[in-house]
Amino acid sequence: MMILGIETSCDETAAAVVEDGTRVLSSITATSAGLHARTGGVIPEQAARKQIQSIIPVIELALKEAFASPTTNTRQLTSIIDAIAVTTGPGLIGSLLVGVETAKTLSHLWNVPIIPVNHLLAHIYANWLTVKNLPKFPTLALVVSGGHTDLVLMENHKKIEWIGGTRDDAAGEAFDKTARLLGLPYPGGPSLAKLADEYIAKHSHKKLNLFPRPMIDDVNFDWSFSGLKTAALRKMSELAEEKKFKLSDYQEISSHTKVIKNKSMLAAEIQEAIVDSLMEKSVRAIKKYNVESFLLAGGVAANKRLREKFISRMTSESLNVDFRVPTPALCTDNAAYIASRAYFDQRKIDWRAVITNPELIITDKP
Ligand code: KG4
Ligand code: ZN
Repeated sequence: MMILGIETSCDETAAAVVEDGTRVLSSITATSAGLHARTGGVIPEQAARKQIQSIIPVIELALKEAFASPTTNTRQLTSIIDAIAVTTGPGLIGSLLVGVETAKTLSHLWNVPIIPVNHLLAHIYANWLTVKNLPKFPTLALVVSGGHTDLVLMENHKKIEWIGGTRDDAAGEAFDKTARLLGLPYPGGPSLAKLADEYIAKHSHKKLNLFPRPMIDDVNFDWSFSGLKTAALRKMSELAEEKKFKLSDYQEISSHTKVIKNKSMLAAEIQEAIVDSLMEKSVRAIKKYNVESFLLAGGVAANKRLREKFISRMTSESLNVDFRVPTPALCTDNAAYIASRAYFDQRKIDWRAVITNPELIITDKP
């Protein structure tokens, strides 16, 4: 079954063609991140306007790449595409509508059904795209993205139970907000991770335990990341006072070596606090639920330290679970996992019945 996936929930415009939910024939992603770098965050109106410009060229490119054809001739395509998968939520309303309205139009034109997709749940399906032997159920999946942190237990593709999640900021949000405090460029997560990894490479034996890991001893599978911003700000003020430089030096590209050193040390400490919190609760959940596999997903799963620490912990504790994490490119937003989830859901509907819902939660039917 050939599915065209469309994803426009945040600042990416993506289209992909995936066969039988696992074989990626093409995956094209255009991002307006460069535009948002100037303002330090996504401006929804600007993101949506860019997506209106990009959506058709991105879909055309995805189709051409998949079928090596210079044409997007309607008649040929209707015979090749069996369904259009589109993200209907959660996300920014203006952005979601660009994808959904385009999908509806193509569905009507080509006379193919739509499969609506929940973006959060779909992130997990990046794990169905990377390897030959597919993940086995039951599985625990941790979705760590820019706006959400959710741990779910999946008995199969349909039976999904929410086990825990963040009480306040998402893991990606914690990366982004603390990166902003340190004056690092947008998008904050990868910028902070880069600085942190440079510090770790130079100070491999240093224990990183400056910041608290809230809720780590609680017997639930919940997280809290909002305190990290305050803790980081307090530490920055303390260091600034001790070393006699201004707090605002952190925001400037300063040549002050003490500030630079502090920045990378703080980045490493912040990253470690987030990584340890995610890992501890996940390991506890693996021990409690007798699952075959553990799947990491979402933009934050691209984090090198997180991936490495999970793998070494699985080995050191001899946890009998098949640990999976997609390639970094498949962790961040793309349309391939949207098409994959659609294949395993198969809820084909008429375009007139498609509803956009920016507030969807991970266990909601889209
Ligand atoms: O899943 P995603 O691409 O978009 C959403 O659905 O939100 O996740 C984006 C989030 C952002 O917060 C970004 O800073 C974070 O993922 N991120 C990272 C890394 N790459 C992306 N965080 C830490 N380390 C990374 N390497
Ligand atoms: Zn996402």
